Amino acid sequence: MRLIFLGPPGAGKGTQAVRLEEHFGIPQIASGDMLRHAVIERTPLGLKAKEYMDRGDLVPDDVTDALVGERLGMKDAEKGFILDGYPRNVHQAEFLDEVLEEQGARIDRVVRFEVDEAEIIARLSGRRICPVCDSVYHVVAKPPRTEGVCDLDAAALLQRQDDTEETIRHRFEVYHEQTSPLIQFYELQGLLTTINAMATADEVFDQLRAVAGESR
Ligand code: AP5
Repeated sequence: MRLIFLGPPGAGKGTQAVRLEEHFGIPQIASGDMLRHAVIERTPLGLKAKEYMDRGDLVPDDVTDALVGERLGMKDAEKGFILDGYPRNVHQAEFLDEVLEEQGARIDRVVRFEVDEAEIIARLSGRRICPVCDSVYHVVAKPPRTEGVCDLDAAALLQRQDDTEETIRHRFEVYHEQTSPLIQFYELQGLLTTINAMATADEVFDQLRAVAGESR
């Protein structure tokens, strides 16, 4: 099963990708997580990406294409994957098609997470992440057992640099301008399924299981 999760920032793509990864045993490939690790490790690629990420702009395509292209070539991605945050524009979607074609593979389904802007602001302003294991929390909807501390590895939780209200609004604009054309791109190929991402995390997960062919 090769899936793409498409949706605005804060729609819950990462939260659900982790659950699906555990449920179906296929890897989550999250371009944002990969880039954040490159920034923390101060690799040349991370240093190049940081300024774009802090502003809420898309990182140049050559950077993300190289990262994701390499990741898709790894053994564990042979049986399937969940692409979370990639592709983000039509160029990236075409690059992805080329990579998969070389592997004799193709995308099975593109899931569009539909959610409104007010909900996004509430979700992202309360989000906390673990810089070690990438676990995602929310101060109200999914608090850690101990405030400010990751349940899994006890690391101090952080607020993402791009989760300020001003940057969230800019990321939302970038999504509409550059990423939302992918809705039509994949609809025309008959690959698009839209889900209600305003629902609770459990309800969204049930919708995803149904998309993947499991009964609710
Ligand atoms: P990226 O990390 O991909 O960020 P994003 O797409 O903006 O998405 P988010 O991670 O903000 O949200 P999400 O949908 O995963 O929501 P989450 O599950 O965390 O990208 C960051 C940056 O990297 C980009 O701005 C860009 O600069 C760069 N980048 C990345 N990929 C790129 C690419 N391909 N090309 C170029 N640049 C790229 O949930 C959010 C919060 O809501 C959490 O607190 C969660 O607990 C809570 N929540 C989740 N589901 C629910 C629910 N159902 N009900 C209530 N709360 C919920």
